[in-house]
Amino acid sequence: MTDHTHTTAINGATGAPLWLLAELTYRCPLQCAYCSNPLDFAAVKEELSTEEWMDVLAQARAMGAVQMGFSGGEPLVRQDLETLVAEARRLGFYTNLITSGLGLDEARIEALHAAGLDHIQISLQASDPDVAAAVAGSPKAHAKKLAMARAVKAAGYPMVLNVVLHRHNIDRIDDIIALCDELGADAVELANCQMYGWAHLNREGLLPSHEQLKAAEATTARWRERLTERGRDMRLLFVVPDYYAERPKACMGGWGAIFMTVAPDGAVLPCHSARMLPMSFPNVRERGLHEIWYDSEAFNRYRGDGWMREPCRSCDERHKDVGGCRCQAYLLTGDATATDPVCSLSPDHHLIEAARRQAEHGERPMAGLTLRNVHESRIFCRA
Ligand code: SF4
Ligand code: FES
Repeated sequence: MTDHTHTTAINGATGAPLWLLAELTYRCPLQCAYCSNPLDFAAVKEELSTEEWMDVLAQARAMGAVQMGFSGGEPLVRQDLETLVAEARRLGFYTNLITSGLGLDEARIEALHAAGLDHIQISLQASDPDVAAAVAGSPKAHAKKLAMARAVKAAGYPMVLNVVLHRHNIDRIDDIIALCDELGADAVELANCQMYGWAHLNREGLLPSHEQLKAAEATTARWRERLTERGRDMRLLFVVPDYYAERPKACMGGWGAIFMTVAPDGAVLPCHSARMLPMSFPNVRERGLHEIWYDSEAFNRYRGDGWMREPCRSCDERHKDVGGCRCQAYLLTGDATATDPVCSLSPDHHLIEAARRQAEHGERPMAGLTLRNVHESRIFCRA
């Protein structure tokens, strides 16, 4: 019997995972320059089979997980998506599909509905086709997304739209919200780009200036008032970028606390970005999820607060924000045990301030963004 006392989480013994994110595939018809997939995703060849995914779902549910997200890449690329959704529902999960809308049509919406899918979130890149095409590397995607958003709404799903904001679309937030309103959205996530994966690679070209951010927040606030006046129930969630915060987010609710990601090849991760950290992660092809969650070195490494260094170690806020994000700490400092530099108490906070200053100046043509595709990814596979 393994001693779990060393895995003590913040409030006591390690609890069960509540969330399972199934990244079904890294394949995707789009090439978004802010994708959070790993830079070397092209190295991942052998996706889990339908049967292997079924087994993952059953194991996670038996451990107590209740929420499921199907994502990717583009999860609709997998022709067994409907089968997996049906199995997840049968097991008792609440199921979410996180999609670009490409690969969807009326027949698949109907099939997903029949399979019991609870919730669909479609991403939009922009309000106008040109910006959308440039950032996603696809001239036709925008029109298709709009059509699918309408179809999802018509099928009776609550319409949740997700728009990643960055310096090339944030000034059009008024048009973006108007478009979401016109599409009949019930909720809109205005998610400022967080700097992981391809977004981190393109950070200079994506990070908005403080002025842009403030203007966008003010526009969103005005929209909230207008929507209330009209009696229109469309929730607007504005997610501030880490780079303009003074305290970090409690990433994933803490490492190995409630959230588990299974990558397309079966690697099990505490978050969707972790596989770029200099450590190895267990795989469901070799070990059971229960053992991975409770006993693996990877899931225990940053659990609780025992791993923290100063200033987090003696900080009163350490149980609130868990020292921030391990992936961001590593991406910015090369040390995953460092305090997240987003925190103004971090000795590395100057890195964030420098990025903010850089965002105040200069033209950043969209053509300078590196698009996320297999060709570019192979460069990182060789590196
Ligand atoms: Fe959070 Fe660490 Fe900053 Fe304290 S020093 S607020 S624990 S990140
Ligand atoms: Fe990996 Fe925050 S994204 S710990």
